[in-house]
Amino acid sequence: MRAAFENLLGTRVIVESDHPGDESAPLSDAETALVARAVDSRRREFRVGRACAHRALARLGIAGHTIGAHPERDPVWPDGIVGSITHTVDCGGRLRCVAAVAPTRVAAGIGIDAEPSTPLDDDLMALVCRPGEVASGDRDAAKVVFCVKEALYKAIFPLTRRFLEFSDVSTTVSLADGTFTARAVTGAGGPRFPEGRSVHGGVVVLDGLVLASLRLPPGF
Ligand SMILES: CC(C)(COP(=O)(O)OP(=O)(O)OC[C@H]1O[C@@H](n2cnc3c(N)ncnc32)[C@H](O)[C@@H]1OP(=O)(O)O)[C@@H](O)C(=O)NCCC(=O)NCCS
Repeated sequence: MRAAFENLLGTRVIVESDHPGDESAPLSDAETALVARAVDSRRREFRVGRACAHRALARLGIAGHTIGAHPERDPVWPDGIVGSITHTVDCGGRLRCVAAVAPTRVAAGIGIDAEPSTPLDDDLMALVCRPGEVASGDRDAAKVVFCVKEALYKAIFPLTRRFLEFSDVSTTVSLADGTFTARAVTGAGGPRFPEGRSVHGGVVVLDGLVLASLRLPPGF
């Protein structure tokens, strides 16, 4: 997963994935408090995701930073750093986590998402995909769109601090090229992501997972 996201994001973005032992990696008291009342599986994914993120920050020379969370759950990165975290469960039932970080001179925002490459639930099709965005009934393509839109949201939200519905964005995906374009089709993203604005990212299906990512250019 790490190599796949490195390929998608480029060499200037630091990517780290889960290592053995991450489930017992130390958290600061403030980080521990964020999931104090959560169920075990959530505490586990949080700890492993934070371990990946701390390892990635260490490669930028940053140690000891508490990665807090805003009320809307996006991580609090050190000043001058952007990043993103994803957790999923692979087809062997194993928890997989990835974190990607970069200085703001490299990216204005980063979004990564990993999802099992299983068909999207039928009842989510109309919520996730705009009319004509995927062929009628193509739940595999819809799952890719879901993953792409979640990655987009993670990159954009810290800049706009505006909630986006799936229907606020229209995507064009080419799995053959490993790329996607996502375009705001409403004004819900505000002035930083106005109607008509497009962003570009990468997407791949690998080992039973859909992986999507985007790096917003500096100054976005
Ligand atoms: C936030 C959201 C995208 C997370 O995706 P997910 O597939 O459920 O879960 P993942 O494990 O991949 O990612 C979770 C991580 O995303 C990050 N995250 C959560 N909320 C976030 C936000 N508002 N902005 C950026 N990152 C966020 C966190 O790091 C979180 O992990 P942590 O709590 O352990 O730190 C999703 O739960 C959500 O709210 N989606 C609705 C909004 C949306 O996607 N709209 C589509 C617009 S086109």
